[in-house]
Amino acid sequence: MHFIQNKHLVLGITGGIAAYKAAELLRLLVKAGADVQVVMTAAACQFITPVTMQALSGKPVFIEMWDSSISNGMPHIELSRRADAILLAPASADFMAKLVQGRADDLLSTLCLARDCPLLVAPAMNKQMWENPATQRNINQLKADGISILGPDSGEQACGEIGLGRMLEAEALLALVNAHFTPKLLAGKRVLITAGATLEMLDPVRAMTNLSSGKMGYAIAQVAADMGAEVTLVSGATTLNTPIGVTKIKAESANAMYDAVMSNIIQQDIFIAVAAVADYRPVTQQSEKIKKNSSTLSIELTRNKDILAEVASLPNAPFCVGFAAETENLLEYAGAKRKAKKLPLMVANLAGEALGSDENNVTLLDENGAHPLERAPKIEVARLLLQHVAGML
Ligand SMILES: Cc1cc2nc3c(=O)[nH]c(=O)nc-3n(C[C@H](O)[C@H](O)[C@H](O)COP(=O)(O)O)c2cc1C
Repeated sequence: MHFIQNKHLVLGITGGIAAYKAAELLRLLVKAGADVQVVMTAAACQFITPVTMQALSGKPVFIEMWDSSISNGMPHIELSRRADAILLAPASADFMAKLVQGRADDLLSTLCLARDCPLLVAPAMNKQMWENPATQRNINQLKADGISILGPDSGEQACGEIGLGRMLEAEALLALVNAHFTPKLLAGKRVLITAGATLEMLDPVRAMTNLSSGKMGYAIAQVAADMGAEVTLVSGATTLNTPIGVTKIKAESANAMYDAVMSNIIQQDIFIAVAAVADYRPVTQQSEKIKKNSSTLSIELTRNKDILAEVASLPNAPFCVGFAAETENLLEYAGAKRKAKKLPLMVANLAGEALGSDENNVTLLDENGAHPLERAPKIEVARLLLQHVAGML
């Protein structure tokens, strides 16, 4: 579930090349369950047509201040009256200058001035416009006025230059708007999460690994950050993008993961061990590629350290959450692991079903017993898990 579900948003579009990305953003917001009213500046209509935005939002788009179709004749007040937030994407340099001055010479700027809800601004412009001291002054003033600035991103720009100023991608903006509406249940908490599979190298090109995708741990990291926590993610092998607002430390072998966790564990309030850490590693890692000289090959393995058990037994241990992926006797094995490692909370899931999937079906085990959650997307499982953790804290 998205926290923007059933929220009323005004999506304000101003005149910039990135207006084309507003169509995709609108589609994602509507798909996530938001009720979106689009308002465009006259300049925005030079870049993308209101027809597109009307089709995607299912509502007429407003552009003119002098619009008689609004029943009380006051669109500048009526359109934002029910809004939970106004999102400007893209926000032109010109429009931000207007916001700073409190000008109200078109419908969108008047709506922003007359609003009684948060304003989220996603700047989009060329590198020079962004770096101009006037724009930087305006950004600082907008922040001081309590306006949230989303981005901008850096990279290749429509003008051919490379640098800071381009609008964040629609997916990233959706995540930030969702974070804005997420209850801050973990504000002030520090959370360390491990995620993904470990790689135990046999030789320079071969490794022992497992099928963990990292999706569950990354989802937990994203939701924990959205809930206001300071999140550090120790990540094994995965190709996933780092969630917004999360500090990632790459650690691919079990030993590297152990070192990364142990050197960051002090002052953490919560430790959530989601990574599928190899129980064993090869005794020796060959420096050259192993040749196929014999018909059989034996590889001697040695036990890796149990990161979670060690963290849980620290003198000032954080609140520890374990994940137990089992292929059989799930609750029995997971419950026994919880007790053996003295964890307040264990998440039990069937290994075969969850690995790599976008959904998960888990049971939370704590001292009060088993709390089965319905099968759901991993982001939703993460939300329910962290709500449970916040409740236990
Ligand atoms: C082709 C073209 C592209 C433009 N792209 C941007 C842009 O990406 N960002 C920006 O701040 N201004 C851009 N501008 C300038 C704005 O469109 C101009 O400042 C306009 O007055 C903004 O109006 P508005 O803020 O009312 O929407 C562009 C202008 C043109 C002609």
